[in-house]
Amino acid sequence: MHKNSRLAFVGAGKMVSAIVRSLLSSDFYIAQNLICCSANDGTSEKLSQQTGIRRAESINELLSFEADILILGCKPQQLGEIANQFSNLQSKCIVLSIMAGINLERLSKSFPQAKNIVRSMPNTPGQIGEGITGFVFHSCPSEQDRRLITSVLDSLGESFELENENDIDRITAISGSGPAYLFEFTSALQAAAKEIGLTNELAEKFAIQTILGSSKLLESSKLSPVELRNQVTSPNGTTQAALESFETSDLRKVILDGVKAANARSIELSNA
Ligand SMILES: NC(=O)c1ccc[n+]([C@@H]2O[C@H](COP(=O)([O-])OP(=O)(O)OC[C@H]3O[C@@H](n4cnc5c(N)ncnc54)[C@H](OP(=O)(O)O)[C@@H]3O)[C@@H](O)[C@H]2O)c1
Repeated sequence: MHKNSRLAFVGAGKMVSAIVRSLLSSDFYIAQNLICCSANDGTSEKLSQQTGIRRAESINELLSFEADILILGCKPQQLGEIANQFSNLQSKCIVLSIMAGINLERLSKSFPQAKNIVRSMPNTPGQIGEGITGFVFHSCPSEQDRRLITSVLDSLGESFELENENDIDRITAISGSGPAYLFEFTSALQAAAKEIGLTNELAEKFAIQTILGSSKLLESSKLSPVELRNQVTSPNGTTQAALESFETSDLRKVILDGVKAANARSIELSNA
């Protein structure tokens, strides 16, 4: 169904590369209908050579491709430099932003002629097809446009349409920043393992595999995180000792405060 859809990517870095590779491997998109451009670090040359998709030398050349979707995959701060170059955007084109912190109001000012605008928030596991993305449309889309956008975002993992743009700032604090919370916890577990006497090698191996194995168990099990936690916790055992210590330090409040701080910062950036 999407074989004839034309996609133009602004940026050719980590996220765009993940989307392009996944779309091509799905067999629903063909390389000659995809085009990318980048700045001066050779990312679009590399992506084009590796995947066979087209490459534009400039935004103007990218726009002359007359894509169905223009995907904004550069860094948020780079939008300011290039926003004034989109006056030739075709009115049939949907603009899909994966940039953090740029709200629909700002996007609609930069792309007044767009058919529709989508703001999305992917996360880093999207780079290996294991991400979760929330997205919101500026105007109510046709069913065909909704399917088209979903097919692109599903290439990063799962995607969910949100009704309320404010939820983007909320999911930013959960799924957007969440991978960093897990990486920080893993690093802390690794450091603690060393502190109690394991070698560097054992500390790394046991901390990382514990996080990986537990995540897979969570995925494959029908039990909730709390039920799985309770399964590991025997009365007066080792896990209970650790959990009581976490409770004394109010770990849940520490996490809540972190999430609230991320949410507040996301709101601040979206409104900047
Ligand atoms: N990484 C993630 O998991 C993640 C998660 C959520 C949201 N996002 C969002 O996704 C976007 C891309 O992130 P990323 O990690 O893929 O970044 P990245 O790897 O640094 O890639 C950025 C790309 O933008 C290009 N670019 C820079 N200036 C440009 C310009 N003037 N015109 C055209 N292209 C230009 C860069 O080209 P050069 O290399 O040539 O400079 C590069 O190809 C960001 O807005 C970020 O907020 C990323």
